Amino acid sequence: MARLSKDDARNHRKACDLVDLDRPLKLSEKEFVLEHFQESATVTAPLAGAFFTPLELARDVSLGVHGDRIIDLCAGIGHLMWECTAHWKRRWENRPPRELVCVEKNPEYVRAGRKVLPEATWICADVLDLPASLGTFDRAIGNPPFGSVERSRNAPNYAGARFEYHVIAVAAQLAPAGVFIIPANSAPFRLSGRVQHTPQHNPAYEQFEKSTGIRLAPTWPDIDTSAFVGQWRNVRAMPEVVRFDPETCEEVSPPARASRTAPPAPVPETPREPHEDAAPSGVLF
Ligand SMILES: C[S@@+](CC[C@H](N)C(=O)[O-])C[C@H]1O[C@@H](n2cnc3c(N)ncnc32)[C@H](O)[C@@H]1O
Repeated sequence: MARLSKDDARNHRKACDLVDLDRPLKLSEKEFVLEHFQESATVTAPLAGAFFTPLELARDVSLGVHGDRIIDLCAGIGHLMWECTAHWKRRWENRPPRELVCVEKNPEYVRAGRKVLPEATWICADVLDLPASLGTFDRAIGNPPFGSVERSRNAPNYAGARFEYHVIAVAAQLAPAGVFIIPANSAPFRLSGRVQHTPQHNPAYEQFEKSTGIRLAPTWPDIDTSAFVGQWRNVRAMPEVVRFDPETCEEVSPPARASRTAPPAPVPETPREPHEDAAPSGVLF
């Protein structure tokens, strides 16, 4: 476990106290939890590759996320989904509600996430073990753990070691399009910290593309994550942001793509704590 400074520990404890409150949080309290809840304070954090997405990076990613039914795979306490909802609120004030689903394995993060984003449906589960009854989504998003972290099983059509590819293979079963933050050495290009986008020869990626039929490409507009290197906690990271969609996958055979005709089924939510029932659930504005 990373050693916290006294200030960090104090603020983390205050964030936990807010999560424990028997009432919905105010906006400023939610922002405090997002800023100060320390992912490293849970014992499983190192095994689960838990590094919460910097909010400024999440904000840039949110610009490329559209649709009415969105799923965040490996949601942490909701940094990425938080920025997506903030972006939609700013841009489409009068649009009908969107349905947001956050999947996260760590129950402590899910508990905090429910307090921060009560509009979302939170599912405390392994992303590699999701029920088929979830239906399909317009977009899947995520900042999964990087590399060969522990996993319970393989995703459909991918048997390699990189967890981020497993998550994207699951995403492609749930949505026709997705946006993911992945390690630079798992992308088929290098863009962050470079003057221009350059394709990168990458045998691990090529194997992933061949076995899944999923082709990854830069987002539009593309995102240079070098601006956020110092904003990750306990690590310095310069990942790439990738997308897949019908256009990127056009020329690849599609063993794993989601069927857009399948009707969405009700999402089986994990049980809530009694005091959480006071919070609005299911959909956003
Ligand atoms: C890099 S963090 C990203 C968190 C989040 N996307 C955010 O916005 O801050 C990865 C997250 O994946 C979760 N995780 C790891 N393995 C998982 C699994 N098999 N199923 C679901 N979540 C998992 C970790 O607990 C952690 O919260």
